[in-house]
Formats: sequence, structure tokens, C-alpha cells
Amino acid sequence: MKKRYYGPTPKQAKRKNAATPVIIQKFQELIYGYYKIFGRNLPWRNTYNPYHILVSEIMLQQTQVQRVLGKYNLFLKSFPDFPCLAQAPLQRVLEKWQGLGYNRRAIALQKIAQRVEHEYQGTLPSSVKTLTTFPGIGKATASAISAFAFQKPTVFIETNIRRVFIHCFFQDQEHISDAEILPLVERTLDTSNPREWYYALMDYGVMLKREYENPNRKSAHYQRQSPFQGSNRQVRGMVLKMLTHETPASIPQMIQRLKLEPKILKTNLMQLQKEGFLTKKGNTFRIA
Ligand code: ADE
Repeated sequence: MKKRYYGPTPKQAKRKNAATPVIIQKFQELIYGYYKIFGRNLPWRNTYNPYHILVSEIMLQQTQVQRVLGKYNLFLKSFPDFPCLAQAPLQRVLEKWQGLGYNRRAIALQKIAQRVEHEYQGTLPSSVKTLTTFPGIGKATASAISAFAFQKPTVFIETNIRRVFIHCFFQDQEHISDAEILPLVERTLDTSNPREWYYALMDYGVMLKREYENPNRKSAHYQRQSPFQGSNRQVRGMVLKMLTHETPASIPQMIQRLKLEPKILKTNLMQLQKEGFLTKKGNTFRIA
């Protein structure tokens, strides 16, 4: 079957990074045109509740949408607002986070809730600058929250957005840095509805990945995940899963139960302790 082409016309593409008012308008029409028909209806897009949007953005940082869909509503049912999350035992938070991976995000999320409660009278700040002072919130996440919950015209790049700009504006180039892309993000932003504009960009980026060879390979920031990272992550996940169900446990118990190489287990236990996930009492480990 012939692949449909969703990019600019060859004439537009030829003019390197051209972003004249006409091109900007055409680009917006292209992205919104696709979104109108194929835009995804995701639960965190039907709310302006800053807590709900914060939870979704932290979950989506390193986890696929499909997996987040299976956890998002359950998590909000268990912890419906900032006070509930702030007061919950960490073990319960990690239990509800199970399946999303990268558990340090759950700890960060709870710390954010505690700070919002104690320092901001229960209201999540809307400014990117303030949001980046919270744990687990980098520039892109802060900007996304600010745009999605508060309709602020922030300028940011994440993986799907990057793909769209590389595909549409940098067709013949390699090693494209985010610094080159950001001015285009700013110039093409729909300031009357930044939230919807970014949803549309993300969905177009997802389509490009599905339909074309991933243009992000051409990004100077592109990194393939190494198998080594994956295996340590798996060990950490197994340990945390075991300890959320059967606290506390000793190293020999974990080796026997999880069938892990002692050296690999010990390295990961040390790391988990250092990062505040686990505490050691005598010979046993438990969730901090
Ligand atoms: N909608 C809102 N935020 C999103 C994200 N980070 N990824 C995909 N869809 C989203």
C-alpha cells in the first residue's frame, strides 16, 4: 500500500528551515488538520486540574501512553488530590506505581505533593521557573504542565515534538540540535491555544514514528538505550516489587526469591539506598 505523505510540499521543504508567515500558517493547518481527524482522546487532556495534569506528565516522562492509560485513573482513585498523596505511606504510593517503572518518579511525585501542601497552600504554581525547582520536574515537564494546566504559551521540546520539526523543517540535515529547533517552536506556537497546539504536535509526531523511519535519529540528542541500563532497571524493579509485598527481606532471601546474581543485586541495593528508596536495618532491607 502506498504510504500517505503528511509533510510539507517538496517546494516548501526545499527552503531550508524556512518559516515565513505563509509557511507557519500552512504548518499549523497541516498539524491541526491531522489532529482534527486523528487526535487522541486521552483522559488527562479532558481536564485542567493541575494535580491530574502533573500526575499524567510525570507518568508520561518515560512510559508509553498505552501503559500510562492502564494506571492513571487507578492512581488518581487511590490518591485523588495533593493532600492524599502527600500523606500516603511511600510503600502504598510505590505499590500503585507498579508497572510504570522508573520508581524514583513516584518518590518525586510525592515530594512535590508535600511541598505544594507545605509551601504553596495546596496550589501548584503555574510558572515554569518555579515548577523546575520541584524534584523530578525538568524544563520540558514544567513547560508542558504550564501549557496544559494553565494555558501558558511556553516553548518546549519533547521527543514527539522534536520529530515533527525535524521532519518538516530539517529534511536534508543531520545532527540537529534543540537550540536550532526551539526558535521554530516559538514562531509556530499557537499562542491562542498552546495546550491544544502541543497535543496536536505530539499526535503528529506519533504518526510520523509509525509511518516513517524515526527522524529523531538525526537529532544531536538522540540516544539509544543501552542493554546494560535496561538490565539494572529490571533488577531495581524486581527488588522494589518484592519489598512492597514482603517487607523486610535480607540479601540471601532476595537472591533465592529473585534468582539474581549476588554482585548485581548488591550494586542495585546500594544504589536504591543512596536514592532514598530503601533503608537497611540489621541485615534486612525495606522500603524507605
Ligand atoms: N498529552 C498530554 N501530555 C502528553 C504527553 N506527554 N504525551 C502524550 N500525550 C500527551
